Amino acid sequence: MTRTVYVNGAYLPEDEAKVSVFDRGFLMADGVYEVTSVLQGKLVDFDGHAVRLQRSLDELDMANPMSKEDLLEVHREMVRVNEIYEGLVYLQITRGAPADRDFAFPDPEETPCTVVLFTQSKPGLAASPAAKKGMKVISIEDIRWGRRDIKTVQLLYPSMGKMMAKKAGADDAWMVQDGHVTEGTSNNAYIVKGDTIITRPRSNDILHGITRAAVLRFAREAQMKVEERLFTIDEAKDADEAFITSASTFVMPVVEIDGVALGDGTPGRVAPRLREIYLEESMKAAV
Ligand code: PDD
Repeated sequence: MTRTVYVNGAYLPEDEAKVSVFDRGFLMADGVYEVTSVLQGKLVDFDGHAVRLQRSLDELDMANPMSKEDLLEVHREMVRVNEIYEGLVYLQITRGAPADRDFAFPDPEETPCTVVLFTQSKPGLAASPAAKKGMKVISIEDIRWGRRDIKTVQLLYPSMGKMMAKKAGADDAWMVQDGHVTEGTSNNAYIVKGDTIITRPRSNDILHGITRAAVLRFAREAQMKVEERLFTIDEAKDADEAFITSASTFVMPVVEIDGVALGDGTPGRVAPRLREIYLEESMKAAV
């Protein structure tokens, strides 16, 4: 089946979906994105993603070309026409394609935003075997820009981080700034000490994960202790457990950091339980 891609109001076969070479997303990474997961054919936490999208656009002075209702409609249509049961919907909005390359922002009246959506089918996303095994991470210096709270398409360093991890025989990299872990290349990072879940507080240094917000809420509701504070990579290596969260991995245990096994080197107790709760609760609320 050919994938159907959405480009500026049109549903097109993927090989006919095109944007201009002058698009500022292509030339300047002047764009924002969202990734929403789909479980049982329904969108998980669509509202959270729509709110964060609006915030990213506001921070970059970009007008939102679509209402939340229209956005939901297009997301649902993409899931329907592409027959997604488990997978992801990727949405990108850029500052559009002006007549020529120019550092200054174009007049939004003359240059409309570019809006693109595509789906990724991922059968087995919820029952992931990787979640049973846990993942290995390495630590790398966080040299990204200072506004990581805006979900922009500048993903070169995170891509390089994933490649560094791959080369080191690991699955991902945790980034470290001034001695403290910021986040994973495409996920938020947590450690567990005793029965306390520790994660970096929200600031401009990390993306405010939609999965993070839900998981912390579920953890507190289940009477688990949550501490939002900085932690070092040494503290992480000494933790009982660790895990990551994102729309594409939900809650995924981390069993090794820089070659050091955590606990007995298996996923532990807290992360698998949180994954269970997250999947159950988010499926109930999916739209
Ligand atoms: N990444 N931190 C970073 C740097 C991310 O790129 C992501 C998401 C997260 C988790 O956010 P959320 O829970 O809202 O997915 C944290 C997406 C999945 C991606 O780039 O594919």
